[in-house]
Amino acid sequence: MAQNDWRKSVVYQIYPKSFNDTTGNGEGDLQGIIEKMDYLQYLGVDYIWLTPVYESPMNDNGYDISDYYKINEAFGTIEDLETLVFEAHKRELKVMLDIVINHTSTEHEWFKEAYKNKNSPYRDYYFFRRSANECPPTNWESKFGGNAWKYDASTDEYYLHLFDVTQADLNWDNPEVRHALYDVINYWIDFGVDGFRFDVINLISKGEFKDSEKIGKEFYTDGPRVHEYLHEMNRHTFGDKDMMTVGEMSSTTIGDCIKYSNEHRQELSSVFNFHHLKVDYINGEKWTNAKLDFHKLKQILMEWQLGIYNGKGWNAIFWCNHDQPRVVSRFGDDSTEESRQQSAKMLATVLHMLQGTPYIYQGEEIGMTDPHFTDINQYRDVESLNAYHNMKNAGYDEQEILKILSQKSRDNARTPVQWTSGTQAGFTSGESWIDIPNNFDKINVEAAMQDEQSILQTYRRLIQLRHEYDIITYGSVEPLYMNHEALFVYKRHLDDETWLIIANFSNEPVDLPADIILTGEVVIQNGHIENGAIGAYSAIVVAQ
Ligand code: GLC
Repeated sequence: MAQNDWRKSVVYQIYPKSFNDTTGNGEGDLQGIIEKMDYLQYLGVDYIWLTPVYESPMNDNGYDISDYYKINEAFGTIEDLETLVFEAHKRELKVMLDIVINHTSTEHEWFKEAYKNKNSPYRDYYFFRRSANECPPTNWESKFGGNAWKYDASTDEYYLHLFDVTQADLNWDNPEVRHALYDVINYWIDFGVDGFRFDVINLISKGEFKDSEKIGKEFYTDGPRVHEYLHEMNRHTFGDKDMMTVGEMSSTTIGDCIKYSNEHRQELSSVFNFHHLKVDYINGEKWTNAKLDFHKLKQILMEWQLGIYNGKGWNAIFWCNHDQPRVVSRFGDDSTEESRQQSAKMLATVLHMLQGTPYIYQGEEIGMTDPHFTDINQYRDVESLNAYHNMKNAGYDEQEILKILSQKSRDNARTPVQWTSGTQAGFTSGESWIDIPNNFDKINVEAAMQDEQSILQTYRRLIQLRHEYDIITYGSVEPLYMNHEALFVYKRHLDDETWLIIANFSNEPVDLPADIILTGEVVIQNGHIENGAIGAYSAIVVAQ
């Protein structure tokens, strides 16, 4: 099997605003990423994915693009991005850009033209609709709360926004829109990047505009023409190039994900799905406080492992991104230094031994925690602020809302990377745009690099193992002890090789089932096994 197969890669996600600030304005920038390129090489990842760096009013931190061809001045210049790609390539690191083409900012020229002139050809770039009565055209809800249609009195029409009111959905049924977007992708291919992450790409085909029983999801999720459009996009852009692509799929199915990522269908290389992260929701509702449902987590991860591979499709595997709380606080335990260290390593091992392309989100590799904010003024994210107001209006108690936000807010992931124990965690010489958790004196990259037992060293080892051993990329998966209360156990098989992975998700030692045979060579381990019991938050991988 080819050494250069993209399937063997590990991707590192960078949220530029919170990565590293070189100007002192409290926000990260492209030069800041360039400055840390040696660190990324030291970590050993193959790709870096930059969340959007284009011109944007930043109402959704760049996922609201006003010009696909310009770089947001706050991040730097196009020359900075050129240097970044050059410096990455020099170190054999590849660069993926984030492409947000389900919607544009309402500041985009297309939308501005469309909005001010009903007869403009750009009007049909978006969904403007009239309503027969006083209500919006449909009862669909925005993913950030409230109705998904915004009324414009001057034309007596509404436009569709599945996200913020400043993120207007593009009309993919219009071929001009599609081709204008393919031009964008081709521009960045010519620029020299190596791949793309496509934002909420399974929402682009809207289907019928009808009232919904499920806030609209059933009409636009994996919509009627989505596969046709992705195939067409592939053929007009990256399809014949050596590029890795990943689509972010909202509320999707295994069946659709196989279609999106099956190599013979010429759509995308791989997909993200989020089902395994909705295991601390109540009845599918995010803005609730709930504990991890461990059985559900195992069941969903394994269902996808068994469902999507064997030549059918390809999944991204991940615990963290810029929209999710920090995994060590969420499914691990950040209550003591010992439990943070152990649970972060255990979670990393469980994930990196699965089949798929692992994504590491900045700071995850040093076990960064949620900031545990206690005041609404500490939050910055549009979704969190909307949720706060919606819960207030629904009569929730302030303390309850703050508890929910501290568990679920996207800002949990967006605090700056903790580089050192110095002022502002070495992130900025000014003042950070969002508060930095006060644990940076202990949890920082500098300290982790000096400590041979650090979480960072576990991540480096896991990345090396994937590069070295084909079984991790190509081996089949066999789930074991699925009903066990605390243990996550599975095997990988390739030809005559077998690896056994055992992880203890509980804060106490757990007896290993009597029929588990541990003979073989230990590939990686954290914590210990004593008298037939595996330590709290410990994991072990044995090659048998
Ligand atoms: C994706 C992004 C998220 C953004 C949304 C709208 O889910 O990851 O950050 O708010 O799309 O673009």
